[in-house]
Parts: sequence; structure tokens; C-alpha cells
Amino acid sequence: QPTLRSLFPKDVRIGSAVRAEALAADSRYGRLLSQEFSALTPENSLKWANIEPVRGFYDWASSDRLMAFAASRKQAVYGHTLVWHTEVPAWVTEDLSPQEVRDLLKDHVTKVVSRYRGKIWAWDVVNEALAEDGSLRDTIWLRKLGPNYIADAFSWVRAADPNAILFINEYGAEWGNRKSAALLELVRKLRSEGVPIQGVGFQSHLPYDRSAAGMAENLARFTSSGFAVAITELDVRIDLPATPEKLQRQAALYLDVVNACLSVSGCVSLTTWGFTDAKSWIPSYHKGFGAACLFDEAYQPKPAYQALMAALLSR
Ligand code: G3I
Repeated sequence: QPTLRSLFPKDVRIGSAVRAEALAADSRYGRLLSQEFSALTPENSLKWANIEPVRGFYDWASSDRLMAFAASRKQAVYGHTLVWHTEVPAWVTEDLSPQEVRDLLKDHVTKVVSRYRGKIWAWDVVNEALAEDGSLRDTIWLRKLGPNYIADAFSWVRAADPNAILFINEYGAEWGNRKSAALLELVRKLRSEGVPIQGVGFQSHLPYDRSAAGMAENLARFTSSGFAVAITELDVRIDLPATPEKLQRQAALYLDVVNACLSVSGCVSLTTWGFTDAKSWIPSYHKGFGAACLFDEAYQPKPAYQALMAALLSR
């Protein structure tokens, strides 16, 4: 029985975000995950607020379980995410001195990366660092540490794991626009300064009625500058109810995004942000939207899955 995993080109990982609690609760979830995907991304397990809710007390239970699952299914793991402005533990406050914030962040990054050194093929080191106009996003990290926090974070990760591929991750930069122009400028500048950054991740949380035209060209701008690129969080949301027409259009967009990645040499990985509508972040964050994944709430393949399989089978 062919699957996404068996049909995807061997040099491109096909991944899904994973919820540790779903893995523990439902055997269908783990079964499909291991059949269909060659890689996984912990959706929430590695976020700082989840892993160190109380200062000094790390809870590795859910990320360790995920790593063990991946290892036993021969799946690669994409680490998500080390430096982000959300999911910062409540005890990391702006009342702390800049030096203290810096020490805490460095310690966090070093602990997590060292624990899984050699077991994570790529790290999402800095997530969502840019504002829509392309300036650096106003976050606790920028306010307390200044713009060099990005370069520092990459160096800390490199020191803790010499081999993982280090990514910066962004949303809204999937097409040529101010944000993607600023992102390209940022990563080129970082590299020219000797910062160990190798990859750029494009989240790709998309509405079903948008077109993927221009996406491959945008990815190619980054690969021709020598960066690996990845689609890191693909989903395609529909304003409910999901009619057959909308599901067909969703299928076409999924296919276009996959084709964009596969057409660009240097697109090393494509990850969907969950695979079943039963466990998607969309309904709770985009009111009135849902049905964003390749499988429905009953874990049945949707037209988007069929479209990908048909295209992969005829490659
Ligand atoms: O697990 C608890 C559950 O026990 C509780 O009953 C419920 C009540 O709210 O919350 C559950 O936790 C939620 C968790 O998702 C799992 O569903 C958290 O409240 C909720 O904040 C968390 O949201 C996650 C969000 O990031 C914030 O961390 C989403 O799952 C996750 O999909 C989303 O992922 C982000 C990427 O990390 C970065 N890019 C954007 C993407 C989408 O927002």
C-alpha cells in the first residue's frame, strides 16, 4: 500500500506536526503518523513554557516520548522552537535584567539542544522574528537583548549541536512581499557575519481560496542565495461548512504547494501542521474555519490526500 512517505522523493522529508497527548490517547493517530510521514515536528512539546513551566524544573516526559516514537519508526525530527515570543514561561519577565534574560535564554537553548543532540536533524532556532513591514518584531528578546539576540541564538545552538541544520522560521513570507524581502536580507546579512544559519522555514498556514502562484519563485530566491528551504507548517483552512467544491480547491492548493517545494532543488522538507482535522489548531484560533488537514476528523483521507497520492504515483 503506497503512502506519502513511500512515494515522496527520498531527498525531501515529508513530515507532520505531532501532539504528544494525541499520540498517547489514540492508536489510530500513531499508526497513520508512522505510515504516512518520514519526519515529525513536536507541535507543542518543546516550547519553553511547556517544558520548563517552573523555573529550574524541566519536564521532558512528552518530548522524550515523542523522540522515542520517532526513533522506533525511523522518522527524522524537526525541533520546534527555541526562541519565540509566545510560550515564554511566566517566570521570564521583563523585570529581570538584560543579562539575566540572556543567561536564561542561553541556558534554555543549550539544555534542550544538548539533550537531543544528534537526534534532531534540523532546529527551528528563531521563530517569527519579523513584523509584517519587515522590521524586527517588537518582542521581549528584542527589547531586552537588542537585535543581536538572533545571531547569539544561532551560535548557542551550533555550540550545543555541531550537525543539526539551523533554520529561521517565518509566516507570511511565502510570497514575494516586504516580509520575504526583509527575511532574505536578514539571512544573507547573518551569514555574511559568520552566523551559522543554513535554512529558512516557511510556515504556510493558508486559506483554501488563495493561489500558490509565485511561491516556487520565492523559495528559489532563497535557495539561489545558498540557503536550504522548508515548508514547515502547511495547512489549508476552509470557512465552514466544507463543501465538495471547497475541498477540491483545497486539494489543488495542497498539490500546488507540494509541487512548489518539489520543483525547487534545496527544498529539503515539507511538513503539514497536523494531519487530521480532529487535532488541528485552526478551529480554536480561526473562528468559523476548520477542515485544514489531509485527513478528516475520522482519520479518513480527504481529496487533498488523494490528489497528492495521485500526483506522486505518476511522477
Ligand atoms: O492541552 C491543553 C488542554 O489540556 C486544555 O484543555 C486546552 C484548553 O485551552 O489547552 C490545551 O493546550 C493548547 C495546546 O495548543 C494543545 O491544543 C494550548 O492552550 C494552546 O495555546 C496551544 O496552541 C498551540 C499554539 O501554537 C500556541 O503554542 C497550537 O496547538 C499550535 O498548533 C500552534 O502552533 C504554532 C507554531 O508553534 C508556530 N507557528 C504558528 C502555529 C499556529 O499558531
